[in-house]
Amino acid sequence: MVPGWWTWADHREEVVPVMGADRSMVYLDGRFVPRSEAKLDVEDRGVLFADGVYEVLRAYGGHLYRAEAHLARLRQSLEGLRIAPPADVERLIGITLELLERNGRAEATVYWQVTRGVATRDRRMPAQPVPTVLVLTWPTAPLAVSEAELTCRSAILQPDRRWGRCWIKSLMLLDNVLAAQAAAAAAADEAIYHRDGTVTEGTAANVFIVHGGRLITTPADEAILAGITRARVIDIAAAAGLDLEQRHFNTTELATAEEVMLTGTTTNVAAVTNLDGVAIGSGEPGPVARQLHTALLDDIRQECGLEPGWS
Ligand code: PDD
Repeated sequence: MVPGWWTWADHREEVVPVMGADRSMVYLDGRFVPRSEAKLDVEDRGVLFADGVYEVLRAYGGHLYRAEAHLARLRQSLEGLRIAPPADVERLIGITLELLERNGRAEATVYWQVTRGVATRDRRMPAQPVPTVLVLTWPTAPLAVSEAELTCRSAILQPDRRWGRCWIKSLMLLDNVLAAQAAAAAAADEAIYHRDGTVTEGTAANVFIVHGGRLITTPADEAILAGITRARVIDIAAAAGLDLEQRHFNTTELATAEEVMLTGTTTNVAAVTNLDGVAIGSGEPGPVARQLHTALLDDIRQECGLEPGWS
């Protein structure tokens, strides 16, 4: 695989999902099939009960960033739902690289989904489930496009009404949908969840703050998804000698923080500069957000073997 299979400009239109015109391939039920021909069984438990798990990862320059960590978390999520990993899970990285190649995509967002499979509707688990494995790829801007600026986001606070097993990356995202939509309705980019005043995470990202000069992030307990990006940012912060604490913090600490950041696969490091219509700190991305953003992109470049200034 070589850099430059395509340029971002060539594929920009592909981002608009026009089903009929989508000629890309997906992987479903052991086969590479055109997107328009891929059909999920209507009695798949993923459809009926959201009975499944997923992962989202990024390909940069044809390399999957932190793929092993995503695979490990997928296995944990499967274990959490008591779905025995099907054989395809072993081969998921190879399948994904082949799919990227078939789609001519070096820069992509990758989606892995494993459901408990097809069974007559019954809440109890089928005795001999045959899990359904789905892999999708979407074209995504190369790193250079997102690199130029640290993304600034506005956020609103939302009560966290999700289930108590948020460490499982389950398909059941309805509360995330409602919270993200509440943010959109308030003309904000993101919602940050809290449980009775204790901050948990964003709808698709983890939260870090700088408060009293210390970098703080929520502990990876059952109430949040232990982000792969979060773990990387913690390592990067430690290597940079930043003072980092993993502890719970409340919405007052969030609102009065010097800096607030979101981390995630589709976010990398983004600065939250406005919360519920009020500026965070100076209202501009702070020095820690800038430092972590740059260091994370360097880490991606290094792991994916990208030339500086290329992808
Ligand atoms: N979500 N918390 C939640 C609730 C998330 O959905 C995500 C990522 C994260 C960050 O995890 P990671 O750093 O491993 O991407 C935290 C993906 C991007 C999604 O659902 O699209």
